[in-house]
Amino acid sequence: MPHTLKDVLPATARMRDDGHLEVGGYDLVALAAEFGTPVYVFCEETFRGRCRLYKDAFPGPDRVYYAAKAFTSLASFRMAAEEGLGVDCASGGELHVALTAGVPVRDIIVHGNNKSDAELEMAVAAGVGRIAVDSLDELERLARIAASAGIRQTIVLRVTPGVEAHTHEYIQTGQEDTKFGMSISSGSALEAAKRAADLPSVELVGAHAHIGSQIFGPEAFGKLVEIMFEYMADVRAATGQTFGELNVGGGLGIAYTKEESPADVTAHSRFIRTAVADEAKRYGLPVPALSVEPGRSIVGNAMVTLYSVGVVKDIPGIRTYVSVDGGMSDNIRPMLYGARYSALLANRANEPSDKVVTIAGSHCESGDVLIKDVALPSSVGRGDLLAIPATGAYGYAMSSNYNKMRRPAVVSVRDGKARVVVRRETYDDLVRLDQV
Ligand code: LLP
Repeated sequence: MPHTLKDVLPATARMRDDGHLEVGGYDLVALAAEFGTPVYVFCEETFRGRCRLYKDAFPGPDRVYYAAKAFTSLASFRMAAEEGLGVDCASGGELHVALTAGVPVRDIIVHGNNKSDAELEMAVAAGVGRIAVDSLDELERLARIAASAGIRQTIVLRVTPGVEAHTHEYIQTGQEDTKFGMSISSGSALEAAKRAADLPSVELVGAHAHIGSQIFGPEAFGKLVEIMFEYMADVRAATGQTFGELNVGGGLGIAYTKEESPADVTAHSRFIRTAVADEAKRYGLPVPALSVEPGRSIVGNAMVTLYSVGVVKDIPGIRTYVSVDGGMSDNIRPMLYGARYSALLANRANEPSDKVVTIAGSHCESGDVLIKDVALPSSVGRGDLLAIPATGAYGYAMSSNYNKMRRPAVVSVRDGKARVVVRRETYDDLVRLDQV
């Protein structure tokens, strides 16, 4: 178990002699002065390093798809592609960004529980490598769309294995009561495999399941592999087909606070591989190529959000509110999932954290609290620079303009150089869609 913030911060984070926090060789105090706050600091080396770790753990013919939804941007997609990863897109919008970024189309998998005809047409026309078909309805529509485009579309079937991962209810997806995928137990997943065999415009190559997010233990994945093999054996019995691919989705957890231990990618891969080998032997099925779709565990710890401290209100006997210049519009996760984060002062990282305070945002809403009860130096005050680590996944991606806050910039740092990869919104951006 980590006992410092090191496992929560980007890999290149270090404290300088002057007490400033540095990431990617860049002094964050200088970065805030140059680019303003709030700002997401993106550590390119951490992001690429995590991509490589996954690539090494799942070498070809296995496939690693970066889950776009965790942080969608041209820069992150390009980096992922340069590191040999594909991209998992969950909407026409994410697909558009992936295509614009120049991600090789064969390395794109398209997801979605309610893909529109327009989205399916876009994916087929682009020539994406895989579509994860989520329902019988979609299978029929896709087959028609592919046929009229004169294409044989490669697909995997997204199935519901009925596995409950121990995570927040809103981010569990593998259980039976879900809008995602086709149920194995009700027979609709088998029905889809049979139907696909009769549709010449689709080529069914494998099965997919995603059991949830921020998962630490391997047990749920072991159970998933067992159930998927049972399903694949049923498919073989019913259609004679053996699947060459098994996609086990994303979901590995990361450390947000020093009390948490990040899940180990290499151990995860080893565990799944062993389970797959065992099950393949048990059913006399070939060992399929594995696919994974990590999002959080690639980008989560690669970012730190920097805020300027403004008003500090001490309510005697109750709590001290330290307000920062962002909040629920740049990180909705504490409010939505009760997510816990850690914090430190980037300009005084060397001072002892001897006072428990609550970090509040600037929104017109009482619940706009980023961290309840976190220790900071007791002298924290206006002008300090607050760093919240591990905001890379589902931070910017779920940001909003609530209260017409401008979305912050994302600044990438590497080897002592900084560059804006997503610019800060301007006030004019806030009316760009309005018409009078
Ligand atoms: N593949 C599929 C099909 C998914 O639905 C997801 C996430 C992933 C991969 C990537 O999962 P990851 O490796 O990032 O755990 N907004 C929530 C998380 C929602 C995840 C939805 N699906 C949060 O902020 O915690």
